[in-house]
Amino acid sequence: MPIYHKLGAFPQKRHTQFNKTDGTLYYEQLFGTIGFDGMSSLLYHVHRPTQIKEIGDAIDMSPKIAEAKHIKSRKLIGFDVAPKDDFLESREPMMVNGDVHIGLAAPKKSMTSYFYKNSDADEMLFIHKGTGTLKTYLGNIPFEYGDYLIIPRGMIYQIEFDNEENRILFAESFHPIYTPKRYRNWFGQLLEHSPFCERDYKLPQDLQTHDEKGEFVMKIKKQGMLHHLVYASHPFDVVGWDGYNYPYGFSIHNFEPITGRVHQPPPVHQTFETNAFVICSFCPRMYDYHPKSIPAPYNHSNIDSDEMLYYVDGDFMSRTDISPGHISLHPAGIPHGPHPGTYEASIGKKETKELAVMIDTFKPLQLTENAMKIDDGKYYKSWVE
Ligand SMILES: [Fe+2]
Repeated sequence: MPIYHKLGAFPQKRHTQFNKTDGTLYYEQLFGTIGFDGMSSLLYHVHRPTQIKEIGDAIDMSPKIAEAKHIKSRKLIGFDVAPKDDFLESREPMMVNGDVHIGLAAPKKSMTSYFYKNSDADEMLFIHKGTGTLKTYLGNIPFEYGDYLIIPRGMIYQIEFDNEENRILFAESFHPIYTPKRYRNWFGQLLEHSPFCERDYKLPQDLQTHDEKGEFVMKIKKQGMLHHLVYASHPFDVVGWDGYNYPYGFSIHNFEPITGRVHQPPPVHQTFETNAFVICSFCPRMYDYHPKSIPAPYNHSNIDSDEMLYYVDGDFMSRTDISPGHISLHPAGIPHGPHPGTYEASIGKKETKELAVMIDTFKPLQLTENAMKIDDGKYYKSWVE
């Protein structure tokens, strides 16, 4: 996150003595990425953050691959994913490769009996249904329908839901997730042509410091295994921090679409980037205004990328028989385009209400056993007239 942010108390000079009222020291921790070259924050703990009492058994969370090599376009019925009580158990990977695991979750209960961190991957949670609070040791972020939550790897968090009806699209990224570089100047400030600006971000707030010793269950995802550890002090014991490495939120409803006289290509919808995939937001917008424009997209061959679209709301202009919660996958190797009738029907239309999240990966996505359970099986034939 290229904005300096701070919460709570910390010493004026880094790496110097910071005393509690009883004269003892707070414990400083550098929370950084990419060695010492990436974004980092400096945290001050009440207790040493290194106190581990027990390490229990680990559970293998690796996705079960059903089809590693394929060329079939797919449609998954996302809302057929069954709700589960536990947040981590509810997460079902659907499409995966060595760079990213994309999945769906319908968690019912808040995370209260343990804390969690993903040390393998940055996490993107897109909130399709539900409200609540992302609680982290750097502060809290209230979330609602349409929010992207970006949680950098190693971030200790809990998630609290206001009710039991929650639907989440998630991506575990093995590369850092950033906003597109082309929208930032050399200092990191978002430029005037960016479809969003710093004011749109939801930064952590309401830092809560727990000075508690005891036994605190921490579940840590590492190398695809979920490790169970017992910490000796409350993980949310940070009294203050500052820096650039922290979780944040961004609402898809705050993405300002870029439009033109003729059809604009998918990169105008880009919201996040990594070295291996992009995340795009397709938002309600005015259509192209050239007198002869065709608002629906042209057929296209994504020669070197797989394209996954998650449908959130509204009528998707280029598709028939698509509903909220559906996922389409258009794999590399074959062209795809508007469904029969939609190309012609788009002419003369003034606006679209479509809302969707697209993830394009440079390496092919493998399909999991979870995906096979909700695959409609016939989508690949849906272009035949
Ligand atoms: Fe496409």
